[in-house]
Amino acid sequence: MLIRRIKCLGFLGVRYNSSHYVTTPIFYVNAAPHIGHLYSAVIADAHCRYQRLKYPERKVRLCTGTDEHGTKIQQAAALHKIPVATYCDQISQRYREVFQNANILQDDFIRTTEERHKRAVAHFWRTLNSRGHIYSAAYSGWYCVSDETFLTDSQLKLDEATGTRYSLESGHPVEWTEETNYMFRLSKFQDDVIHWVKQEARIRPAKFEKILLDTLSEPLPDVSVSRPSNRVHWAIPVPDDSSQTVYVWLDALVNYLSALGYPDEKYSAFWPPAQQIIGKDILKFHGIYWPAFLIAAGLQPPGQLYVHSHWTVDGQKMSKSKQNVVNPVQAAEQYTMEGLRYFLLREGVAHSDGNYSHVKALRILNSELADTLGNLLSRACAKTLNPRQIYPSAQAEHLADLLGSLDAAKRLQESLVQLSERCAQHYECNHFHLVADTAMATLHAANNFFETSRPWELKKGAAGSNEPRLETIIAMTMDALRLCGIVLQPIIPQLATRLLDKLSVPATQRGWNYLAESFANTAHHGGSRQLNEQSSAMLFQRILEEKEERKPQPAKRSKAKKKELRETMS
Ligand code: MSP
Repeated sequence: MLIRRIKCLGFLGVRYNSSHYVTTPIFYVNAAPHIGHLYSAVIADAHCRYQRLKYPERKVRLCTGTDEHGTKIQQAAALHKIPVATYCDQISQRYREVFQNANILQDDFIRTTEERHKRAVAHFWRTLNSRGHIYSAAYSGWYCVSDETFLTDSQLKLDEATGTRYSLESGHPVEWTEETNYMFRLSKFQDDVIHWVKQEARIRPAKFEKILLDTLSEPLPDVSVSRPSNRVHWAIPVPDDSSQTVYVWLDALVNYLSALGYPDEKYSAFWPPAQQIIGKDILKFHGIYWPAFLIAAGLQPPGQLYVHSHWTVDGQKMSKSKQNVVNPVQAAEQYTMEGLRYFLLREGVAHSDGNYSHVKALRILNSELADTLGNLLSRACAKTLNPRQIYPSAQAEHLADLLGSLDAAKRLQESLVQLSERCAQHYECNHFHLVADTAMATLHAANNFFETSRPWELKKGAAGSNEPRLETIIAMTMDALRLCGIVLQPIIPQLATRLLDKLSVPATQRGWNYLAESFANTAHHGGSRQLNEQSSAMLFQRILEEKEERKPQPAKRSKAKKKELRETMS
C-alpha cells in the first residue's frame, strides 16, 4: 500500500514531460449524436486549442471515438434490423462527420471494435490478472442493461404497481441476474482512490469532488468485470476464457490507452492524460473505477477529470421518448456550426445544467456575434470610412490626444490591457463563458469608443486634413478586433480565422503572445497594411426570427449610427 502510494505521489501533481493529452468520453453508437455529445467534444477541443495557442511548445493530443460493445448496441442494431457491425460503422461515421463539421481538431478517433483496441484490452486484462486483482466468483444482483451496470438496493426504486425495479439515477429498469463473473478487487483500492481524488484540482468543478468523496465514504464493493458470452456476445472475449466477455466499462475505459498505442511503449510519451472531459453521469466510472484499474495495473491515473453538467431542452431532460433531442446538424442549419459552438460554450457552465432554447440561442448569437463583433468589423472596413481598405497604424500624437480626451478611448485601452491575463485565467479553468464575456465586454468598449469618437465626421473636413486622426480611430478599433479574434480562436475557430484573415494578420502573429501588441500596450509597430480583399467583412449574419422572416423589419438604429450613415452616404 505504502509503495503503491509512493509510486502514485510522483504523478499526483507534477508533470514530467511537455505532453498534454486530453480525451473526450467515447460515444455510444446506440443513437445518433446530439448536442450533449457535441458539448463534451467542443469543451475538449476549445481546451486543446487554447493550450496550443498559449503553450506552443507543448505536445497537445486530443482523442475521441466511439464505444461500440455491449447489450445496448446489440439491441439497437436488432431494432433497426441491421447487422451489428454495419450499425456501428454507420453511427460511428455520423460522430466523425459531426465532429468534422464542428471543427473538432482530434488527433485520433478510436473505435472499440478496432483490433488495436482489442489488443490493448487483452493486455490490460492480463496485467490486472497477473497482479492478482481479478478473481472468479458467483455473482448475483440487479443489473441495468441500459446503464450496463449492477446496482445495489439503495440505488433502486420499486414500482409497487408493477413490481418492476428501476435505477434511481437513470430511471432505467433493472433485472435480477445470477451468473459466474470475474471480479475486480475494487475494495482494495479504496484508500488509493480517495488519496488520488483529494489532490489539488483533481476533480473540477469542485462540487463533483464532493460527490465522489461522499460515495467513497462508504466501503467500495468489488466489481464484476466480465459477463457470460452467451448473454453479452457483442464484446471482447476475456483472454484465455471465451465463455466470458470483458465488462463494457472496462473495455471502454481502456480506449484512453489504446488510442496512444498501448501496450507499445510509445503510449508513455503522452501518459497520463492531463485532462479527461466527462459528463456528470459517468463520474463514478471515471472517478472511482478508472483510477482504481490504473493503479492496479501499475499505471498513472489522470491529472484531472473535468466534469460537465447536462443540457436540458426548454427545461426538460433530452430523451427520445419526449422527442426533444437536439440534432447538432439541424441546429447548425439554423445557427451555423460556429454559432452552435459559441452558444454551447457561451451558455453552458460545467457546474450546473444548461438550458437549450431557440429563443436564447437567437438572442445571444444576434446580439454578440452579429451586432457586437460582426457589426464592428463591417463598420471599420466600410469603404466610405476606409476607402483605401487598410488596417492603419495609430499615429502617436492622435493616439495620445484620443486617450487623453475621450473616456471611451481610455476604457477601451484598460480593457485591452487586461484582456490577455483575464482570458488566460478563465481558459485555464475551462471557463469558456467567462472568456466570451470578457471578449464581449472589450468589444462593447470598442463599439462605444467608435461611436463616441465619431470617425464619420472626420470625413467631412478638408481633404486629407483629418486623415491621421481618422486612421488612428480605425487602427484602435481594429486592434480591439484583432485581439478579440486571437482570444476567441479556441471557441469559434472559423469565425476568428475569417476575422484575422480580413485584417491581414499573418498566421505567425495569431499566438497568445501577440495580445501584448496593440495601441494599449506598446504601440503596434506593424505599419499600415492592406485589408484582405478576398475575405468578407460580413462575419456573422443576423439570424431572422420566423416573424422577421415573414415581415422584414428595419433594424433600429441609434441616433449616432443614423448620423454616421448620413455623413458617409453624402
Ligand atoms: N460510452 C460512454 C462513455 C464511455 S467513456 C470511456 C457514454 N457514452 S454516451 O454517448 O452516453 O455519452 C457520452 C458523453 O455525452 C458523456 O460525457 C455524457 O455525459 C454526454 N452527454 C450525454 N447526454 C448529455 C446531455 N444531455 N448534456 C450534456 N452532455 C451529455 O456515456
